[in-house]
Amino acid sequence: MKDHAGTINRYVPGRSIAEISEEYNIPVDSIIKLGSNENPLGASPEAMRAINEDARGISVYPASDASDLRDAISEYTGYPAERIVAGAGVDGVIDTLMRMLMPGEAIVPIPTFSYYAISAQAHHGTVVFVPRDRDFVIDPEDILSQTTDETRVVFLCSPNNPSGNLIPKSDLQTILEGLDGCNTTVFLDEAYIEFSKVSMLRLAAEYDNLVVGRTLSKAFGLAGLRVGYAVMSEEMGGEYMECATPFSVSSLAIAAGIAALKDPEHLKRSVDLVKSGRKRLMEIPFRVYPSEANFVLVDVSPHRSGEVCDFLARRGIIVRDCSSFRGAGDFLVRVSIGTPDQNERVVEAFFELLEVSGA
Ligand SMILES: Cc1ncc(COP(=O)(O)O)c(C=O)c1O
Repeated sequence: MKDHAGTINRYVPGRSIAEISEEYNIPVDSIIKLGSNENPLGASPEAMRAINEDARGISVYPASDASDLRDAISEYTGYPAERIVAGAGVDGVIDTLMRMLMPGEAIVPIPTFSYYAISAQAHHGTVVFVPRDRDFVIDPEDILSQTTDETRVVFLCSPNNPSGNLIPKSDLQTILEGLDGCNTTVFLDEAYIEFSKVSMLRLAAEYDNLVVGRTLSKAFGLAGLRVGYAVMSEEMGGEYMECATPFSVSSLAIAAGIAALKDPEHLKRSVDLVKSGRKRLMEIPFRVYPSEANFVLVDVSPHRSGEVCDFLARRGIIVRDCSSFRGAGDFLVRVSIGTPDQNERVVEAFFELLEVSGA
């Protein structure tokens, strides 16, 4: 078991305010955290109220199948609750899926969110990494050509973390149709979909081999509570429940998740803030990739990403060094969209970098 654990790459999280405060001797209050794609407005006040009200009940186990939460997600997505599963973040959902689908091969187009590979490997799977092109676009034919009889899952992410681009519907359909009858599931991660123009959720009604994962960590501001879900075929949903840990969503997460889903005003405020802030961050004076998510990816070359993150951290700004993303190289930095004031600080700091370096 120890040997197996030693073969898995550890997940590298964004840096915390406490860490940066200690390392650079900066007061906690003056640090801004734009490294983990969190919601700058925080959670919906309705979610906070629900947590307070439900706090009295935490000595009692929650519903094992999170049925009330799944009903609320059903209302939000338009899919019946039988086709919805919920977990401790979409990470938790991915992990249960891997428990169900591995061992076997997992295809992961890179660079992308690193937990797909970690979870597949942790469940004794083999990961096949397929590079994206220079603009982080996937080649559906290339992906299909890498599949074998052993391929159990293809991970796709739209908008992709860290590049922010969407998968065109036709590319997704090419992959789904190419894998028809192959015992291979396509997991489409739509963690950032609320910030984007187009969801592919509708395709789950047409393709039984498609699972669409979503989260309440981003647009709904509940990252600390851990609530994620996925839409899948009813048959797969039944198998999933057999593999899931009982009570995988806590009672407070259920209560807050329901309240957040029923607060469209907070969702709209959060999405509008991201959309306007995204425009401002496009003015960072380096190559900024167009994004459909709550972050932008910046090519900081000729500087190395680590140096740039350090430069910004000294000014109390946490961003994400993407060198820990397999296949991303050493020149990419991801910046989450913050409040207008935070965005100004970031843009100014990048201008300062340009001036100091004369690049
Ligand atoms: C693409 C993607 N999927 C999933 C997650 C994790 O989501 P959750 O907090 O629901 O586990 C993240 C978090 O950054 C992400 O970027």
